[in-house]
Amino acid sequence: MRVGIVLNLAVPVLATLLVGDCTAKIAPDFIRPCNTTEPACLIKATRDAIPEFSKGLPELGVPALDPFVIDQLPIQLPGIKVTFHEGKATGLRKCEVRNVEAFLEKNIFNLEVKCNITIKGKYTAVGRLLLFPINGEGDSKIKIINSIIALNIKTKYYKDSEGRDHFGIKSYKYTFDYGERIIYTINNLFKGNPELSNTVLQFLNENWRIVTEEFGQPVVDYALNVTISTAKKFFDAVPIDELLYVPIPKY
Ligand SMILES: *[C@@H]1O[C@H](CO)[C@@H](O)[C@H](O)[C@H]1NC(C)=O
Ligand SMILES: *[C@@H]1O[C@H](CO)[C@@H](O)[C@H](O)[C@H]1NC(C)=O
Ligand SMILES: *[C@@H]1O[C@H](CO)[C@@H](O)[C@H](O)[C@H]1NC(C)=O
Repeated sequence: MRVGIVLNLAVPVLATLLVGDCTAKIAPDFIRPCNTTEPACLIKATRDAIPEFSKGLPELGVPALDPFVIDQLPIQLPGIKVTFHEGKATGLRKCEVRNVEAFLEKNIFNLEVKCNITIKGKYTAVGRLLLFPINGEGDSKIKIINSIIALNIKTKYYKDSEGRDHFGIKSYKYTFDYGERIIYTINNLFKGNPELSNTVLQFLNENWRIVTEEFGQPVVDYALNVTISTAKKFFDAVPIDELLYVPIPKY
């Protein structure tokens, strides 16, 4: 009787341990694989994964996306060179997922999100702005409200050394709609002249759309480059069969 009970308990526990060991799962628990590539499921799975994913997965070598660090980002514009440093971008974890599509046969993956992003850090600016010689240095903050980012990724498949299939990223394109408003807070644009600094800053904010068209592209290129290289690290670490319960085409 006693032995029976012990065995009854022990068998499932052992079985769980054994199975757990054989199929040691790499994907974190917040990844809930879809059984189809229906956008409704992909959207929900992506929405559920973003807040945790953006914190980073150090055990898989995946860095954080929120915040992500901008060590040094030089932007050369006509007549003026702006360099960001010691910067931090925040907000990605709260992006609203608008659409996710995966076409496994065609190797296409599309993602559309709406985000509020804040970039904070130090800057230097040397050159000319409007008619004024500029030599600014100080703190800056850029607040991007309700921007829409549509990513179009060309994927590929490959096998790791254990023969498991992975997604690779072959190339990507994106469109970026700056959204409703961008707010610049930049101090000390003109060293020692706070009045002129404020006047020019006000001008930049009143003309944010034009300013951003020149100036925003390199920032967004950089941010998406970081996002894509982070996604690559994740796909290198986690095989497809832990991300999606849908057979992939022969390749
Ligand atoms: C996929 O199917 C399994 C088994 O039917 C189910 O438990 C799971 O919830 C499904 N996954 C999703 C994301 O719907
Ligand atoms: C962005 O911020 C605005 C204003 O604070 C808010 O109304 C909007 O819902 C936010 N958008 C997202 C995608 O979080
Ligand atoms: C993106 O990163 C790669 C390597 O990390 C680099 O070679 C490339 O120039 C970067 N592109 C942009 C637009 O920053």
